[in-house]
Amino acid sequence: MVLLLGFLLLWGVVDITGSLSITTPDQTIQEAQGETVHLPCMFTLNPEDEGPLDIEWLRLSGPNEARDHVIILYAADKIHSDFYYDLKGRVHFTTNDIVSGDASIKIRNVRPSDSGTYQCKVKKAPGVAKTTIQLTVVEFIGNVSITTPEQTIQEAQGETVHLPCIFTFISKDQGPLDIEWFRLSGPSNEAVDRVVILYSADKVCDDFYTDLKGRIHFTSNDIRSGDASINITNVQLSDAGTYQCRVKKHPGIVNRNIQLAVTGSTESVNITTSEQTVQEVQGETVHLPCMFTPNPEGQGPLFIDWMQLTGPENEVVNRMFIVNLADKIYDDFYQDMKGRVKFTSNDIRSGDASINITNVQLSDAGTYQCGVFYGHGAVKRTIQLIVVG
Ligand SMILES: *[C@@H]1O[C@H](CO)[C@@H](O)[C@H](O)[C@H]1NC(C)=O
Ligand SMILES: *[C@@H]1O[C@H](CO)[C@@H](O)[C@H](O)[C@H]1NC(C)=O
Ligand SMILES: *[C@@H]1O[C@H](CO)[C@@H](O)[C@H](O)[C@H]1NC(C)=O
Ligand SMILES: *[C@@H]1O[C@H](CO)[C@@H](O)[C@H](O)[C@H]1NC(C)=O
Repeated sequence: MVLLLGFLLLWGVVDITGSLSITTPDQTIQEAQGETVHLPCMFTLNPEDEGPLDIEWLRLSGPNEARDHVIILYAADKIHSDFYYDLKGRVHFTTNDIVSGDASIKIRNVRPSDSGTYQCKVKKAPGVAKTTIQLTVVEFIGNVSITTPEQTIQEAQGETVHLPCIFTFISKDQGPLDIEWFRLSGPSNEAVDRVVILYSADKVCDDFYTDLKGRIHFTSNDIRSGDASINITNVQLSDAGTYQCRVKKHPGIVNRNIQLAVTGSTESVNITTSEQTVQEVQGETVHLPCMFTPNPEGQGPLFIDWMQLTGPENEVVNRMFIVNLADKIYDDFYQDMKGRVKFTSNDIRSGDASINITNVQLSDAGTYQCGVFYGHGAVKRTIQLIVVG
């Protein structure tokens, strides 16, 4: 026992003096039977370490095993993965570019018997570091499953994108329903980057991830019925990546990856004002902003229209109430607004299509949309107006 302790301590010392480091912390990973699990192991080399790079993944001995098993090895630029019969053909490094600092592995088609403790050890003498992952494979008996297939969804920047995740479960009332959407990262999506939205105990939490704050929501009012899909509004190039929908209904757990690709705007005009809610007191003048950047190379007439939208999804144009077409303003479409609405800039062409509504009424409250058409570009932005009595 003392000997073993001494040995462990020695390892500890080596870990501290070694200059390379593993940035992946020790962790616990749960995966459903049949899925592919990613065991992350990211490391940073240090120039002081001059030896050859060696990477060793071990499955540490459990209560019923006599010894640790090497499951995959990277040494002298070669990969060896046929050590451990139980994992034969199912274990791979996730990247071809291990040298760059990614020693993560994936195990395909995991089984409950794969549960256990895995250790990634990176050596480059004199440096050595390791990280340990506790893997639990949940025996999933088929009571919860996701019917949405793995897929890539493409959307243009600025639009609303829908990421589907439809699931079913058979038996009723077998534990709570939990839904988690993650954003994955890393070259092979081996790392759970962060939780972006979750549903647990009939509550939705969507403020984990500031980048998506206010832009992400579940699309169904009745998630329990089997729809865990989400929408991301005003999608940005930086939102592109892999998202994972995970549905847990104890003891079942399943997940599905959805790739999101965001295409850059090729429009000849952009609206820089973000979607927002504006509040004003009845009788006051309210300002509804709409700033845009016309492409200097663009040509053709500039057309601006402001509409009021209605319907549960704002899909219905209620009325168009002010328009700027080829430098002329038309604002007498709608009796209610007559004389109360005007563009606030004298130079709309320079990129300001904002309007003011004077003597604002409770009945003016609702969803407004500013549309800018220029060259081949057509962009729109919605503004919510709240009028308080
Ligand atoms: C799945 O549902 C069946 C039928 O309702 C039930 O007998 C079984 O225990 C459930 N399995 C799990 C893992 O909950
Ligand atoms: C979600 O986005 C889709 C496609 O962009 C849209 O058709 C749908 O109305 C949106 N649903 C909700 C609830 O926002
Ligand atoms: C609109 O924005 C996108 C992304 O920010 C950019 O690529 C594009 O050039 C912009 N267009 C104009 C006209 O500014
Ligand atoms: C528009 O309204 C805002 C405040 O509601 C006011 O400060 C501004 O002067 C108004 N602009 C014009 C041109 O009327």
